[in-house]
Amino acid sequence: MNISQLEKAAYLLRQGHLVAIPTETVYGLAANAFSDQAVAKIYSLKNRPSFNPLIIHCKDLEMAQEIGIFNDYAFKLAKAFWPGPLTIVLPLSTNAPVSQLATTGLKTVALRVPAHPMSLKILELACIPLAAPSANPSESISPTSAFHVEKAFKHNNDLSMIIDGGACDVGLESTIVDLSGEKPILLRPGKITREDLRTFIGEFSDISLETGHPKAPGQLKRHYAPSIPLKMNVHEVNKSQALLAFGPSPLLGAKKTLNLSPTADLIGAAANLFSMLHELDNTVFESIAVMPIPHQGVGIAINDRLSRAETSQ
Ligand code: TXA
Ligand code: MG
Repeated sequence: MNISQLEKAAYLLRQGHLVAIPTETVYGLAANAFSDQAVAKIYSLKNRPSFNPLIIHCKDLEMAQEIGIFNDYAFKLAKAFWPGPLTIVLPLSTNAPVSQLATTGLKTVALRVPAHPMSLKILELACIPLAAPSANPSESISPTSAFHVEKAFKHNNDLSMIIDGGACDVGLESTIVDLSGEKPILLRPGKITREDLRTFIGEFSDISLETGHPKAPGQLKRHYAPSIPLKMNVHEVNKSQALLAFGPSPLLGAKKTLNLSPTADLIGAAANLFSMLHELDNTVFESIAVMPIPHQGVGIAINDRLSRAETSQ
């Protein structure tokens, strides 16, 4: 790790500038969570709808406890999974000076302690919580490398620095669980699965579908979209298509094929998903055809992201 780079990033963040940081899930576009002005830059750079709240990244549980009101379940999950790819939604502590733009004025807040050593070091050096959505333009494919971030924002002066921490290990955004209400609700599937969570908090329901207004607007149907059409669960492919294959017997006949995991390993497939989508998102192909992915474990999160890319066409 180049400490002086991380010190510079921490300094810029404290000054209210935007810095793209690596996390174990995807790259984040980070800003001082206490500053409305800094957080406003995130919404403008990403062209993100102002009703979509941000996750607040903390250096540890202690920092998170200054922002959210923790209950028993929250302590259990934080102790089991932080630092790591789990976001917990909790009631916002009344005296936490978090930007209301970041929470979009909600009485709840989404909190996470990321596991990437560089983001943890930056959080420690800056000593402030960081609001950070994925570092991509709203609705496009999430970034899993510094190159993806650079490609998306290279001509923009509002992004002061990109910290290169290599390819993201997990490759899918964090699991989000809402513990702010009477019962826990899984708002977004991720690497940490329902089964992983159940050990600590028992049974719970899925994304709240009762209201038209999604609790996690990342759950908006249009999300993670490549610029060409995408079709899931294909069993045949033609020579004008790109194929995103899975498993030891990829379909034959595509113009280009990338295999999420030749050994049919779902965790490996998750890590490759966004980077392969970035690579196949090219208008030389008519569309991206995706082979079936088993709907189990982290496969549920993979299919969740793919279905949003598919319905957005
Ligand atoms: O892995 C991740 O979570 C990455 C990295 C950078 O940490 N971040 C990320 O952020 O995926 P973003 O903005 O792309 O997704 C944040 C999700 C959105 O769906 C948002 O609606 C939801 O978190 N969210 C934030 N605050 C919330 C709240 N108070 N209640 C419900 N959902 C909330
Ligand atoms: Mg995102």
